[in-house]
Amino acid sequence: MTHAASPLSAPAMGEPYLLTPGPLTTSAAVKQAMLRDWGSWDEDFRALTREMRGSLLALTGDKKNELDCVPMQGSGSFSVEAMLGSFVPRDGKVLVLSNGAYGQRIAQTLAYLNRQTSVIDKGDYMPPRGEEVTAALKADPAITHVVVVHCETSSGILNPVKEISDAVYAQGRKLLIDSMSAFGAVPLDINEIRYEAMVSSANKCIEGVPGFGFIIARKEELEAAKGRSHSLSLDVHAQWAHMNKTGQWRFTPPTHVVVAFLEALRAHTAEGGVAGRGARYTRNRDVMVDAMRALGFETLLKDRWLSPIIVTFFCPADPAFKFDTFYELMKSKGFIIYPGKLTVVASFRIGCIGQMDEHVMRKAAAAAKECLAEMGVARATPPEAALIERAKLAA
Ligand SMILES: Cc1ncc(COP(=O)(O)O)c(C=O)c1O
Repeated sequence: MTHAASPLSAPAMGEPYLLTPGPLTTSAAVKQAMLRDWGSWDEDFRALTREMRGSLLALTGDKKNELDCVPMQGSGSFSVEAMLGSFVPRDGKVLVLSNGAYGQRIAQTLAYLNRQTSVIDKGDYMPPRGEEVTAALKADPAITHVVVVHCETSSGILNPVKEISDAVYAQGRKLLIDSMSAFGAVPLDINEIRYEAMVSSANKCIEGVPGFGFIIARKEELEAAKGRSHSLSLDVHAQWAHMNKTGQWRFTPPTHVVVAFLEALRAHTAEGGVAGRGARYTRNRDVMVDAMRALGFETLLKDRWLSPIIVTFFCPADPAFKFDTFYELMKSKGFIIYPGKLTVVASFRIGCIGQMDEHVMRKAAAAAKECLAEMGVARATPPEAALIERAKLAA
Protein backbone atom coordinates (compact mmCIF):
# COMPACT_ATOMS: atom_id res chain seq x y z
CA MET A 1 0.00 0.00 0.00
CA THR A 2 1.20 3.52 -0.74
CA HIS A 3 -0.90 5.43 1.79
CA ALA A 4 1.99 6.15 4.12
CA ALA A 5 3.70 8.08 1.30
CA SER A 6 0.59 9.92 0.05
CA PRO A 7 -1.71 11.15 2.81
CA LEU A 8 -5.37 11.50 1.87
CA SER A 9 -6.69 15.05 1.58
CA ALA A 10 -8.14 16.65 4.69
CA PRO A 11 -11.91 17.46 4.73
CA ALA A 12 -12.36 20.13 2.07
CA MET A 13 -14.54 22.51 4.12
CA GLY A 14 -12.23 22.33 7.13
CA GLU A 15 -14.79 20.36 9.12
CA PRO A 16 -13.58 17.90 11.80
CA TYR A 17 -12.71 14.32 10.88
CA LEU A 18 -15.53 11.97 11.82
CA LEU A 19 -13.90 9.21 13.89
CA THR A 20 -17.32 7.59 14.04
CA PRO A 21 -18.98 4.52 12.53
CA GLY A 22 -20.92 6.50 9.92
CA PRO A 23 -21.84 8.90 8.56
CA LEU A 24 -18.11 9.21 8.06
CA THR A 25 -15.53 11.43 6.42
CA THR A 26 -15.93 11.14 2.66
CA SER A 27 -13.68 12.25 -0.19
CA ALA A 28 -14.15 15.51 -2.08
CA ALA A 29 -14.79 13.44 -5.25
CA VAL A 30 -17.69 11.62 -3.56
CA LYS A 31 -19.28 14.91 -2.48
CA GLN A 32 -18.65 16.54 -5.88
CA ALA A 33 -20.45 13.67 -7.60
CA MET A 34 -23.66 14.97 -6.01
CA LEU A 35 -23.58 18.30 -7.84
CA ARG A 36 -25.69 17.27 -10.81
CA ASP A 37 -29.30 16.15 -11.01
CA TRP A 38 -30.60 12.91 -12.52
CA GLY A 39 -34.01 11.77 -13.73
CA SER A 40 -34.81 8.61 -11.79
CA TRP A 41 -36.58 6.96 -14.77
CA ASP A 42 -33.93 8.01 -17.28
CA GLU A 43 -31.72 5.34 -18.86
CA ASP A 44 -28.58 7.15 -17.65
CA PHE A 45 -29.64 6.69 -14.03
CA ARG A 46 -30.91 3.17 -14.62
CA ALA A 47 -27.46 2.31 -15.98
CA LEU A 48 -25.91 3.66 -12.77
CA THR A 49 -28.22 1.51 -10.67
CA ARG A 50 -27.25 -1.55 -12.72
CA GLU A 51 -23.56 -0.75 -12.36
CA MET A 52 -23.90 -0.30 -8.61
CA ARG A 53 -25.74 -3.61 -8.12
CA GLY A 54 -23.12 -5.42 -10.21
CA SER A 55 -20.20 -3.84 -8.34
CA LEU A 56 -21.66 -4.77 -4.97
CA LEU A 57 -22.27 -8.36 -6.08
CA ALA A 58 -18.66 -8.56 -7.25
CA LEU A 59 -17.57 -8.01 -3.62
CA THR A 60 -19.34 -11.17 -2.44
CA GLY A 61 -17.28 -13.71 -4.42
CA ASP A 62 -20.49 -15.07 -6.00
CA LYS A 63 -19.08 -17.05 -8.93
CA LYS A 64 -22.17 -19.19 -9.49
CA ASN A 65 -24.49 -16.21 -9.95
CA GLU A 66 -26.58 -17.32 -6.99
CA LEU A 67 -27.00 -13.91 -5.39
CA ASP A 68 -28.65 -10.64 -6.32
CA CYS A 69 -28.41 -7.16 -4.86
CA VAL A 70 -31.45 -5.07 -3.92
CA PRO A 71 -30.81 -1.45 -2.91
CA MET A 72 -33.36 -0.02 -0.46
CA GLN A 73 -34.09 3.62 0.39
CA GLY A 74 -33.56 4.75 3.98
CA SER A 75 -30.91 4.23 6.65
CA GLY A 76 -29.35 0.86 7.43
CA SER A 77 -32.07 -0.09 9.91
CA PHE A 78 -34.64 0.12 7.10
CA SER A 79 -32.69 -2.53 5.19
CA VAL A 80 -32.38 -4.73 8.29
CA GLU A 81 -36.13 -4.49 8.80
CA ALA A 82 -36.74 -5.17 5.11
CA MET A 83 -34.51 -8.26 5.23
CA LEU A 84 -36.17 -9.67 8.36
CA GLY A 85 -39.70 -9.00 7.14
CA SER A 86 -39.01 -10.46 3.70
CA PHE A 87 -36.91 -13.55 4.40
CA VAL A 88 -38.35 -14.86 7.67
CA PRO A 89 -41.70 -16.54 6.96
CA ARG A 90 -44.56 -15.35 9.17
CA ASP A 91 -44.57 -18.75 10.89
CA GLY A 92 -40.76 -18.85 11.14
CA LYS A 93 -38.76 -18.60 14.36
CA VAL A 94 -35.55 -16.63 14.68
CA LEU A 95 -32.59 -17.14 16.98
CA VAL A 96 -30.98 -13.72 17.51
CA LEU A 97 -27.33 -13.66 18.58
CA SER A 98 -27.12 -10.45 20.56
CA ASN A 99 -23.98 -8.86 21.98
CA GLY A 100 -24.76 -5.18 21.76
CA ALA A 101 -27.15 -2.50 20.59
CA TYR A 102 -27.57 -3.72 17.02
CA GLY A 103 -28.36 -7.29 18.08
CA GLN A 104 -30.94 -5.83 20.46
CA ARG A 105 -32.41 -3.75 17.64
CA ILE A 106 -32.80 -6.90 15.53
CA ALA A 107 -34.75 -8.58 18.35
CA GLN A 108 -36.86 -5.43 18.74
CA THR A 109 -37.55 -5.31 15.00
CA LEU A 110 -38.64 -8.96 14.99
CA ALA A 111 -41.05 -8.16 17.86
CA TYR A 112 -42.60 -5.40 15.69
CA LEU A 113 -42.85 -7.96 12.88
CA ASN A 114 -44.57 -10.48 15.16
CA ARG A 115 -42.01 -13.16 14.43
CA GLN A 116 -41.32 -15.75 17.09
CA THR A 117 -37.89 -15.04 18.52
CA SER A 118 -35.43 -16.51 20.93
CA VAL A 119 -32.28 -14.64 21.94
CA ILE A 120 -28.81 -15.69 23.02
CA ASP A 121 -27.94 -12.52 24.94
CA LYS A 122 -24.18 -12.16 25.49
CA GLY A 123 -24.49 -8.75 27.14
CA ASP A 124 -22.49 -5.74 26.00
CA TYR A 125 -19.74 -7.42 24.03
CA MET A 126 -19.05 -11.12 24.70
CA PRO A 127 -18.95 -12.99 21.37
CA PRO A 128 -21.62 -15.58 20.51
CA ARG A 129 -19.82 -18.87 19.77
CA GLY A 130 -20.55 -21.72 17.38
CA GLU A 131 -21.07 -24.32 20.08
CA GLU A 132 -23.73 -22.21 21.83
CA VAL A 133 -25.56 -21.84 18.53
CA THR A 134 -25.37 -25.59 17.91
CA ALA A 135 -26.78 -26.30 21.39
CA ALA A 136 -29.61 -23.76 20.97
CA LEU A 137 -30.58 -25.14 17.57
CA LYS A 138 -30.51 -28.74 18.80
CA ALA A 139 -32.70 -27.75 21.75
CA ASP A 140 -35.31 -25.98 19.62
CA PRO A 141 -36.25 -27.57 16.28
CA ALA A 142 -38.79 -24.76 15.66
CA ILE A 143 -35.97 -22.28 14.95
CA THR A 144 -35.76 -21.68 11.19
CA HIS A 145 -33.33 -18.73 11.01
CA VAL A 146 -30.36 -17.31 12.91
CA VAL A 147 -29.40 -13.63 12.73
CA VAL A 148 -25.95 -12.33 13.63
CA VAL A 149 -24.26 -8.93 13.54
CA HIS A 150 -20.92 -9.14 11.71
CA CYS A 151 -19.11 -6.26 13.42
CA GLU A 152 -21.17 -5.27 16.49
CA THR A 153 -20.45 -1.57 16.16
CA SER A 154 -21.59 -0.75 19.70
CA SER A 155 -18.44 -2.37 21.16
CA GLY A 156 -16.41 -2.82 17.96
CA ILE A 157 -16.20 -6.62 18.30
CA LEU A 158 -15.78 -8.67 15.15
CA ASN A 159 -18.11 -11.60 15.71
CA PRO A 160 -16.99 -15.08 14.54
CA VAL A 161 -19.41 -15.31 11.59
CA LYS A 162 -17.65 -18.24 9.89
CA GLU A 163 -17.93 -20.39 13.01
CA ILE A 164 -21.57 -19.34 13.40
CA SER A 165 -22.44 -20.00 9.76
CA ASP A 166 -20.92 -23.48 9.96
CA ALA A 167 -22.95 -24.23 13.10
CA VAL A 168 -26.20 -22.93 11.54
CA TYR A 169 -25.94 -24.93 8.31
CA ALA A 170 -24.73 -28.08 10.10
CA GLN A 171 -28.13 -27.96 11.82
CA GLY A 172 -29.98 -27.33 8.55
CA ARG A 173 -31.08 -23.77 9.41
CA LYS A 174 -30.60 -20.45 7.58
CA LEU A 175 -28.36 -17.48 8.38
CA LEU A 176 -29.06 -13.77 7.93
CA ILE A 177 -26.20 -11.31 8.56
CA ASP A 178 -26.19 -7.64 9.53
CA SER A 179 -22.84 -6.69 7.99
CA MET A 180 -23.67 -2.98 8.10
CA SER A 181 -20.37 -1.71 9.43
CA ALA A 182 -18.09 -4.46 8.06
CA PHE A 183 -19.05 -5.16 4.43
CA GLY A 184 -16.47 -3.82 2.00
CA ALA A 185 -13.57 -3.91 4.48
CA VAL A 186 -13.91 -7.28 6.22
CA PRO A 187 -14.15 -10.32 3.91
CA LEU A 188 -17.56 -11.98 3.71
CA ASP A 189 -16.95 -14.39 0.84
CA ILE A 190 -20.03 -16.45 0.01
CA ASN A 191 -17.77 -19.41 -0.87
CA GLU A 192 -16.34 -19.36 2.66
CA ILE A 193 -19.26 -18.18 4.74
CA ARG A 194 -22.71 -19.32 3.71
CA TYR A 195 -25.69 -17.02 4.26
CA GLU A 196 -29.13 -16.50 2.77
CA ALA A 197 -29.07 -12.71 2.95
CA MET A 198 -27.01 -9.87 4.32
CA VAL A 199 -27.38 -6.10 4.60
CA SER A 200 -25.09 -3.11 4.61
CA SER A 201 -25.45 0.57 3.78
CA ALA A 202 -23.98 3.35 1.66
CA ASN A 203 -22.29 5.30 4.44
CA LYS A 204 -20.02 2.65 5.95
CA CYS A 205 -16.93 0.91 4.54
CA ILE A 206 -17.60 1.81 0.91
CA GLU A 207 -17.39 5.46 2.08
CA GLY A 208 -20.50 6.89 0.45
CA VAL A 209 -22.94 9.34 2.02
CA PRO A 210 -26.07 8.22 3.93
CA GLY A 211 -29.38 7.63 2.15
CA PHE A 212 -29.84 3.97 1.31
CA GLY A 213 -28.89 0.43 2.26
CA PHE A 214 -28.68 -2.75 0.24
CA ILE A 215 -29.66 -6.36 0.69
CA ILE A 216 -27.65 -9.12 -0.97
CA ALA A 217 -29.57 -12.39 -1.01
CA ARG A 218 -29.83 -15.76 -2.71
CA LYS A 219 -32.13 -15.55 -5.70
CA GLU A 220 -34.18 -18.50 -4.45
CA GLU A 221 -34.78 -16.61 -1.18
CA LEU A 222 -35.77 -13.52 -3.14
CA GLU A 223 -38.29 -15.61 -5.11
CA ALA A 224 -39.64 -17.19 -1.93
CA ALA A 225 -40.11 -13.76 -0.31
CA LYS A 226 -42.99 -12.89 -2.66
CA GLY A 227 -46.02 -11.65 -0.75
CA ARG A 228 -44.38 -12.11 2.63
CA SER A 229 -43.42 -8.60 3.71
CA HIS A 230 -45.47 -6.74 6.30
CA SER A 231 -44.56 -3.47 4.64
CA LEU A 232 -45.25 -2.02 1.20
CA SER A 233 -42.13 0.14 1.06
CA LEU A 234 -39.78 -2.39 2.72
CA ASP A 235 -40.82 -5.34 0.54
CA VAL A 236 -37.50 -6.70 -0.78
CA HIS A 237 -39.14 -9.04 -3.30
CA ALA A 238 -41.25 -6.24 -4.77
CA GLN A 239 -38.26 -3.88 -5.03
CA TRP A 240 -36.19 -6.66 -6.64
CA ALA A 241 -38.84 -7.71 -9.14
CA HIS A 242 -39.58 -4.10 -10.13
CA MET A 243 -35.89 -3.25 -10.49
CA ASN A 244 -35.21 -6.32 -12.62
CA LYS A 245 -38.21 -5.59 -14.83
CA THR A 246 -37.87 -1.81 -15.28
CA GLY A 247 -34.35 -0.96 -14.14
CA GLN A 248 -35.93 1.56 -11.78
CA TRP A 249 -36.35 1.82 -8.04
CA ARG A 250 -39.98 1.37 -6.99
CA PHE A 251 -40.25 4.73 -5.24
CA THR A 252 -38.12 7.91 -5.49
CA PRO A 253 -34.46 6.89 -5.27
CA PRO A 254 -31.86 9.05 -3.51
CA THR A 255 -30.32 9.86 -6.91
CA HIS A 256 -27.46 12.04 -5.68
CA VAL A 257 -26.53 9.52 -3.00
CA VAL A 258 -26.43 6.70 -5.57
CA VAL A 259 -24.13 8.68 -7.84
CA ALA A 260 -21.86 9.54 -4.89
CA PHE A 261 -21.85 5.87 -3.94
CA LEU A 262 -20.71 4.85 -7.42
CA GLU A 263 -17.82 7.29 -7.13
CA ALA A 264 -17.02 5.70 -3.74
CA LEU A 265 -17.19 2.22 -5.28
CA ARG A 266 -14.70 3.23 -7.95
CA ALA A 267 -12.30 4.47 -5.28
CA HIS A 268 -12.85 1.21 -3.39
CA THR A 269 -11.81 -0.77 -6.47
CA ALA A 270 -8.79 1.49 -7.06
CA GLU A 271 -7.69 0.89 -3.46
CA GLY A 272 -7.66 -2.86 -4.01
CA GLY A 273 -11.23 -3.80 -3.09
CA VAL A 274 -12.06 -5.43 0.23
CA ALA A 275 -8.42 -6.42 0.87
CA GLY A 276 -7.04 -2.93 0.17
CA ARG A 277 -9.74 -1.15 2.17
CA GLY A 278 -9.39 -3.61 5.03
CA ALA A 279 -5.61 -3.11 5.07
CA ARG A 280 -5.91 0.68 5.40
CA TYR A 281 -8.49 0.41 8.19
CA THR A 282 -6.39 -2.21 10.00
CA ARG A 283 -3.37 0.09 9.83
CA ASN A 284 -5.55 2.97 11.08
CA ARG A 285 -6.63 0.88 14.04
CA ASP A 286 -3.16 -0.44 14.87
CA VAL A 287 -1.52 2.98 14.77
CA MET A 288 -4.31 4.58 16.81
CA VAL A 289 -4.55 1.78 19.41
CA ASP A 290 -0.76 1.75 19.93
CA ALA A 291 -0.66 5.51 20.39
CA MET A 292 -3.65 5.52 22.77
CA ARG A 293 -2.18 2.67 24.82
CA ALA A 294 1.04 4.67 25.14
CA LEU A 295 -1.06 7.35 26.91
CA GLY A 296 -2.39 4.75 29.36
CA PHE A 297 -5.76 4.12 27.64
CA GLU A 298 -6.91 0.51 27.51
CA THR A 299 -9.19 -1.16 24.99
CA LEU A 300 -12.29 -3.04 26.10
CA LEU A 301 -11.40 -5.96 23.85
CA LYS A 302 -8.32 -8.11 23.62
CA ASP A 303 -6.52 -7.79 20.28
CA ARG A 304 -8.02 -10.94 18.76
CA TRP A 305 -11.54 -9.49 18.95
CA LEU A 306 -10.72 -5.93 17.81
CA SER A 307 -12.32 -5.01 14.50
CA PRO A 308 -10.64 -2.65 12.03
CA ILE A 309 -13.88 -0.62 12.15
CA ILE A 310 -14.20 0.99 15.58
CA VAL A 311 -12.49 0.54 18.96
CA THR A 312 -13.93 0.97 22.48
CA PHE A 313 -11.64 2.53 25.10
CA PHE A 314 -12.32 2.72 28.83
CA CYS A 315 -12.57 6.23 30.23
CA PRO A 316 -9.61 7.01 32.53
CA ALA A 317 -10.03 6.60 36.31
CA ASP A 318 -8.59 10.06 37.05
CA PRO A 319 -11.49 12.19 38.39
CA ALA A 320 -10.24 15.11 36.30
CA PHE A 321 -11.37 13.19 33.17
CA LYS A 322 -14.86 14.19 31.99
CA PHE A 323 -16.01 12.64 28.72
CA ASP A 324 -18.04 15.70 27.66
CA THR A 325 -15.03 17.99 28.12
CA PHE A 326 -12.78 15.49 26.32
CA TYR A 327 -15.27 15.34 23.44
CA GLU A 328 -15.41 19.14 23.07
CA LEU A 329 -11.63 19.50 23.29
CA MET A 330 -11.12 16.76 20.68
CA LYS A 331 -13.66 18.46 18.41
CA SER A 332 -11.87 21.80 18.78
CA LYS A 333 -8.72 20.04 17.59
CA GLY A 334 -10.48 18.64 14.52
CA PHE A 335 -11.74 15.20 15.61
CA ILE A 336 -15.27 14.07 16.38
CA ILE A 337 -15.21 10.93 18.51
CA TYR A 338 -18.10 8.75 19.67
CA PRO A 339 -19.58 8.09 23.13
CA GLY A 340 -19.43 4.52 24.46
CA LYS A 341 -22.41 2.16 24.68
CA LEU A 342 -21.26 -0.12 27.51
CA THR A 343 -23.75 -0.40 30.36
CA VAL A 344 -21.25 -1.46 33.05
CA VAL A 345 -18.30 0.93 32.79
CA ALA A 346 -17.70 4.36 31.25
CA SER A 347 -16.21 4.18 27.76
CA PHE A 348 -15.87 5.98 24.45
CA ARG A 349 -15.22 4.85 20.87
CA ILE A 350 -12.91 5.89 18.06
CA GLY A 351 -13.75 4.85 14.52
CA CYS A 352 -11.10 3.79 11.98
CA ILE A 353 -13.26 3.98 8.83
CA GLY A 354 -13.71 6.75 6.28
CA GLN A 355 -11.33 8.91 4.27
CA MET A 356 -8.41 8.89 6.65
CA ASP A 357 -5.12 7.11 7.03
CA GLU A 358 -2.50 6.42 9.66
CA HIS A 359 -1.25 10.04 9.59
CA VAL A 360 -4.68 11.21 10.67
CA MET A 361 -4.86 8.54 13.37
CA ARG A 362 -1.49 9.66 14.74
CA LYS A 363 -2.72 13.24 14.83
CA ALA A 364 -5.90 12.13 16.61
CA ALA A 365 -3.88 10.37 19.31
CA ALA A 366 -1.60 13.41 19.65
CA ALA A 367 -4.74 15.54 20.08
CA ALA A 368 -5.95 13.13 22.79
CA LYS A 369 -2.64 13.61 24.60
CA GLU A 370 -3.05 17.40 24.51
CA CYS A 371 -6.65 17.12 25.72
CA LEU A 372 -5.58 15.02 28.72
CA ALA A 373 -2.93 17.61 29.60
CA GLU A 374 -5.47 20.45 29.30
CA MET A 375 -7.87 18.55 31.58
CA GLY A 376 -5.11 17.88 34.12
CA VAL A 377 -5.19 14.09 33.62
CA ALA A 378 -1.67 12.73 34.16
CA ARG A 379 -2.31 9.23 32.86
CA ALA A 380 -5.31 7.63 31.11
CA THR A 381 -5.26 4.38 33.12
CA PRO A 382 -8.80 2.97 33.51
CA PRO A 383 -10.43 2.15 36.86
CA GLU A 384 -9.98 -1.29 38.45
CA ALA A 385 -13.66 -2.11 37.72
CA ALA A 386 -13.01 -1.79 33.99
CA LEU A 387 -10.12 -4.23 34.12
CA ILE A 388 -12.18 -6.70 36.14
CA GLU A 389 -14.92 -6.45 33.50
CA ARG A 390 -12.40 -7.04 30.75
CA ALA A 391 -10.97 -10.11 32.46
CA LYS A 392 -14.32 -11.82 31.73
CA LEU A 393 -13.27 -11.91 28.10
CA ALA A 394 -10.21 -13.98 28.97
CA ALA A 395 -11.05 -16.60 26.35
C1 LIG B 1 -24.10 -3.23 12.79
C2 LIG B 1 -25.11 -2.15 12.55
N1 LIG B 1 -26.39 -2.48 12.31
C3 LIG B 1 -27.33 -1.57 12.08
C4 LIG B 1 -27.04 -0.22 12.09
C5 LIG B 1 -28.12 0.77 11.87
O1 LIG B 1 -27.89 1.57 10.77
P1 LIG B 1 -28.58 3.00 10.65
O2 LIG B 1 -28.11 3.81 11.85
O3 LIG B 1 -28.05 3.51 9.35
O4 LIG B 1 -30.04 2.80 10.65
C6 LIG B 1 -25.72 0.19 12.36
C7 LIG B 1 -25.37 1.62 12.41
O5 LIG B 1 -24.26 2.01 12.71
C8 LIG B 1 -24.74 -0.80 12.59
O6 LIG B 1 -23.47 -0.45 12.85
